[in-house]
Amino acid sequence: MSEIVVFPDQPALVEATAEHIARLAEAAIMARGRFSIGLSGGSTPRPVFQRLAAEPLRSRIAWQRVHVFWGDERTVPPDDPDSNYGMARDALLEHVPLPAANIYRMKGELDPAAAAEDYAAVLRTFFGADGLPRFDLLLQGMGADGHTASLFPGTAALHEQRAWVVANRVPKLDTWRLTLTVPVINAAANITFLVAGADKAPALRAVLEGDPQPDAYPSQRIQPVDGALRWYVDTAAAAQLERRP
Ligand code: 6PG
Repeated sequence: MSEIVVFPDQPALVEATAEHIARLAEAAIMARGRFSIGLSGGSTPRPVFQRLAAEPLRSRIAWQRVHVFWGDERTVPPDDPDSNYGMARDALLEHVPLPAANIYRMKGELDPAAAAEDYAAVLRTFFGADGLPRFDLLLQGMGADGHTASLFPGTAALHEQRAWVVANRVPKLDTWRLTLTVPVINAAANITFLVAGADKAPALRAVLEGDPQPDAYPSQRIQPVDGALRWYVDTAAAAQLERRP
C-alpha cells in the first residue's frame, strides 16, 4: 500500500501526522501489547513530537507500552545541539510518562563503528535475531538532496544489504553518521515520510515522479517489502508534483 497525502500547510501536516502516530500506536498496542517507533531527526518532526506531548494525545497514548528508537543519529553526544535524540528528548520524551528503559538511543558519542554494532545488538535484543527487525512505524524525513535517515547520495551505506545499522561516511558534511540500512527500513510495517517546505519540492518530484536514480535520490530505495508507505507532505513541498494526488 502506498499513498501520498498533501496537506494545505505545515500545521495541518503536523496535526495529521501526530494523529496518524497515535492511531498506529493504539492499533499496535491493542494487537501486540507494544508499539515500536523509529524517529527521524532534523527539524521537520519537532512540532509533531511537541503535539504528541500535548493534550489530548499525551493522555490518549499508552506511553508505557511505546518503545522509541531512531532511524539515524549524528556522531555527537546526546547533549549536543545536533543530536536527534536530544531534539526528541526536549520536544517529547521528557514530557510524557515513557519509561527510560523504553528509549533506545543510538550512542553517537561512541566510535561510529562501535556505535553501529551496539545498536544492532539493541535491535536484536528487542526484535529477536531471526529475520529483520520489523518496526511498527518508521518516521522518515527527506533532505533537499533526496536523502533519508543518513542514507546520503553516493554514500556506501546505500548498498549495505547485510548489516542492520552502519556508520556512514558523508563527505558532503565531512562527518560520520549512524543509520539504519535500507533492508531494515523496508522491513517496517509502516513507513511514513514527513516532508515540508518549498526547498524539498525538486527532490520530492524527482523521488516520486522522476526516473529511478536510487543512488542520486536514496529515498527512492525506500519501498516496504510487506508494509504501508505513506508520504505526508505539505503543499509547498508538493508544488512540483505533476500527478497531484
Ligand atoms: C537527520 C535526519 C534526516 C532528516 C532530513 C530532513 O539526522 O538529519 O534524520 O534524514 O530527516 O535531513 O531534515 P529536515 O527535517 O531538517 O529538513
